[in-house]
Amino acid sequence: MLFPSQLLSGRWTAVLGLLTAFSALIAPAVSVKEHDFKKCHQSGFCKRNRAFADQALATSSWQTPYHILPESRSFQDGQFQAVILKTINDQGETVRLPITVSFLKSGTARVTVDEEKRQKGEIELRHDSKARKERYNEAEQWVVVGGLDLDKEAKLAFEDKTQATVKYGPSSNFEAIIKFAPFGIEFKRDGATQIKLNDRGLLNMEHWRPKIDKPEPEKKEAEETTTEEKKEEEQPKGEDESTWWDESFGGNTDSKPRGPESVALDISFVDYEHIFGIPSHAGPLALKETRGGEGKYEEPYRLYNADVFEYILDSPMTLYGAIPFMQAHRKGSSVGVFWLNAAETWVDITKAKDSKNPLALGIGAKTSTHTHWVSESGLLDVFVFLGPTPQDLAKTYGELTGTTAMPQEFALGYHQCRWNYVSDEDVKDVDRKMDKHHIPYDVIWLDLEYTDEKKYFTWDSHTFPDPIGMGKQLDGHGRKLVTIVDPHIKNVDGYSVSTELKSKELATKNKEGNIFEGWCWPGSSHWIDAFNPAARAWWASLFQYSHYKGSMENTWIWNDMNEPSVFNGPETTMPKDNIHHGGWEHRDVHNLNGMTFHNATHHALISRKQGESRRPFVLTRSFFAGSQRIGPMWTGDNQAAWDHLQASIPMVLSQGISGMPFSGADVGGFFGNPEKDLQTRWYQAGIFYPFFRAHAHIDTRRREPYLAGEPYTSIITAAIRLRYSLLPSWYTLFRKAHLEGTPITRPMFYTHPTEEAGFDLDDQFFVGNTGLLAKPVTEQGKESVDIWIPDDEVYYDYFTYNTVPTSKGKKVTVDAPLDKIPLLMQGGHIFVRRDIPRRSSALMKWDDYTLVVTLPKDGKSAEGELYVDDGESFDYEKGQYIHRRFVLDSTAKTITSVDAEGRDEKDIKPGDWMKKMQECEVGVDKIIVVGAPASWNKKEVTVESDGKTWTAEVEYTPAEKGGRAAFAVIKKVGARIGADWKISFA
Ligand code: GLC
Repeated sequence: MLFPSQLLSGRWTAVLGLLTAFSALIAPAVSVKEHDFKKCHQSGFCKRNRAFADQALATSSWQTPYHILPESRSFQDGQFQAVILKTINDQGETVRLPITVSFLKSGTARVTVDEEKRQKGEIELRHDSKARKERYNEAEQWVVVGGLDLDKEAKLAFEDKTQATVKYGPSSNFEAIIKFAPFGIEFKRDGATQIKLNDRGLLNMEHWRPKIDKPEPEKKEAEETTTEEKKEEEQPKGEDESTWWDESFGGNTDSKPRGPESVALDISFVDYEHIFGIPSHAGPLALKETRGGEGKYEEPYRLYNADVFEYILDSPMTLYGAIPFMQAHRKGSSVGVFWLNAAETWVDITKAKDSKNPLALGIGAKTSTHTHWVSESGLLDVFVFLGPTPQDLAKTYGELTGTTAMPQEFALGYHQCRWNYVSDEDVKDVDRKMDKHHIPYDVIWLDLEYTDEKKYFTWDSHTFPDPIGMGKQLDGHGRKLVTIVDPHIKNVDGYSVSTELKSKELATKNKEGNIFEGWCWPGSSHWIDAFNPAARAWWASLFQYSHYKGSMENTWIWNDMNEPSVFNGPETTMPKDNIHHGGWEHRDVHNLNGMTFHNATHHALISRKQGESRRPFVLTRSFFAGSQRIGPMWTGDNQAAWDHLQASIPMVLSQGISGMPFSGADVGGFFGNPEKDLQTRWYQAGIFYPFFRAHAHIDTRRREPYLAGEPYTSIITAAIRLRYSLLPSWYTLFRKAHLEGTPITRPMFYTHPTEEAGFDLDDQFFVGNTGLLAKPVTEQGKESVDIWIPDDEVYYDYFTYNTVPTSKGKKVTVDAPLDKIPLLMQGGHIFVRRDIPRRSSALMKWDDYTLVVTLPKDGKSAEGELYVDDGESFDYEKGQYIHRRFVLDSTAKTITSVDAEGRDEKDIKPGDWMKKMQECEVGVDKIIVVGAPASWNKKEVTVESDGKTWTAEVEYTPAEKGGRAAFAVIKKVGARIGADWKISFA
């Protein structure tokens, strides 16, 4: 981003260039201007709620002022309803807050609290505001796509005037105890308490109240008072009203027409010490405590999507996207909560030994985690998941918010990006050079500079005179082009997109109800309001090939700056009192904003041309819960530094366990010029990002892999080829993520939920359920890594087949000179590759497969799967796919392939792709059995398939003492991939 003053000059690129060159001389390591972003004490509602918490927790006799009116309660069809009364003063005056606790069929419970007065619109808005009066209640419409069916079997097991107990869940083993006075809810599983709401009495729904104007305080004479001081002075004793009615930060004032309306709640995870989730933050996977102390943060985790320029690491600061889904984990149990609120949110985390039972304080005392959630506005809407496994959480959360969209296969290939490829000739040249150096890639990207002066849907006619010619060259090898299209529309005469945006009234409005104007890349800009269905329909029309001239079937889109980034706005984003479609203030919907734009582009690409039915590809920077249904995200503007490479791994893992696994970081680092070894190591790590893209800032030196020189180019090429050979496995994992909400790269706590020593590890991970265990090198000069072994299984080195000397819970040192990626194979799996290196994934479409079987320690059996479809259309939804399950059974002495879903190939009416798979006889070429016992030392095996029997040659290589495991290669297997087959090695 740039500063408005530079933009105003009109020659900002030159200024930026000079400025960067200058700052590079004086300050090699730059980082975010932290003071441009609020700390909790600078965000009125956060400060108030933290103070409220401090007061409550310091008062031994503290009682929450909220209680349920017993007579108001009812329970029907899995739903408990009542009115909570909040006592607001010593006179006992109350406000009414309707509460609904819904018990859902999935076993999830949902607690929703609204405010009656606002609900009924019985409030007054200040400043003639055009905003809505209700608390924002439409987040659900954007986020939740299923899983809301009520559990009609849920039973009211007990009730009296003080509490109600509801039994629910898959085997009625979940229990919610709703306590009336003081109000609180306790969730139990199998009789043991897991989660408590308002146990510490921090529930706070700031109710509506009229502004009472107080007489101006007398002015200090001697010295001038600052605004801050003035606010402090205005504060009456008791509540801090200083930011109730307006609030200033960094020269911007938020008018707050509805006054204070924050919503806060404490959520305790009883006996849970490990907490994960709520991305995106640049910190460790396991969340830290946030109330100060050694190794802890001082600030709460913040969720307020923002363009955080050159973000700092190990910080709870907000980043570009937010998923308010948190999970707590302990040995053998996972539970979670999803806080459905799109407003600015802060989460404090503390841990404490069981304080309710002083006798337990010594040995055996368990640690619980207390969280305190605070949002600026909206409903209190929280979903409670009782697990018990991480997979259960992924599934139930996925049912609610949706799962990863099934991507086109090319999206899993390598993406070559930089700011900027400067001309169509440049693009074609890079394309040729990648081929010349035999480096596979699928997509080349165009950043801002392809446009005519930052006007999206146009091309710079000098530098990109022939975009179609460029697109066609790429298409020649099945490659794609991605162009950037941001949500800010240049405010300039004669630009039809801008003219239409204004005339059709489709832009976000300011608080006065006029079109909002701010600054971004193009200078003065307006922002499409993608909350508005009419705006989305219009947006779709812009992507029609007839409108977006120069785009073609292999053009896809990158949505950036959609937090939204507004260079001259408060905290680089939109004023909170801006108004969106439906009269909602930006304050209410801020964290949803990026997703609505991403969604609009996604739908635009589906409807580019009638009859064209391909899965859209749209990368987003900003996201919210539910964005996984649309497309991938990346972690924004990182730096070419080792610590940023390190940080990318927990960041990607966190996305994965939070339902949005299609994620990656800029390979090589966005800012700065990576040293060759860093660049190389980054590729070796990047091949394990589900979204694998290299990207670089406009001021960096060119760094396409072939420029690195030897040995780097060859090492990087080998890494990219490894990614390509494993594409069938990656694609299978995406299918699993699509169906089950599962992460693609998986941290140890997820795969081994009972191994405590692995809970805090976030630098090694499994690639789905393939058994591949990776630990990329992320430190300069390191030539080995220590991999923690989570179980008693055998592990083989991926490249050498060496059996690593392991035992459960131990660390194994794996050699990793620069040309070596630390990658192990856990015994017991079968995973699939395509071993012929080609230029792009499209060119591998009809290639045969290689199966790699890793024999487990007990030698008995190994299993794996393959999912494959045409990789681009929606025909998979009509059954046009192949899904195989492979099993090696040592007792039966067979390896078999059966349809993983029990379907009969004959019953599937083959479409074009299926027919071609059959006609081309795409099959299994070879099977490598790592760890094959001596009984495999034979010449051939029999293969049975398609009603025929034949033999295939076997090459057996015996083990080397103390090192390489024996392995057998079955050559030219020749069985069709879509057919059932059996290999007998008796
Ligand atoms: C933002 C993006 C970055 C992009 C740049 C120019 O900084 O994060 O990836 O290159 O804008 O579009």
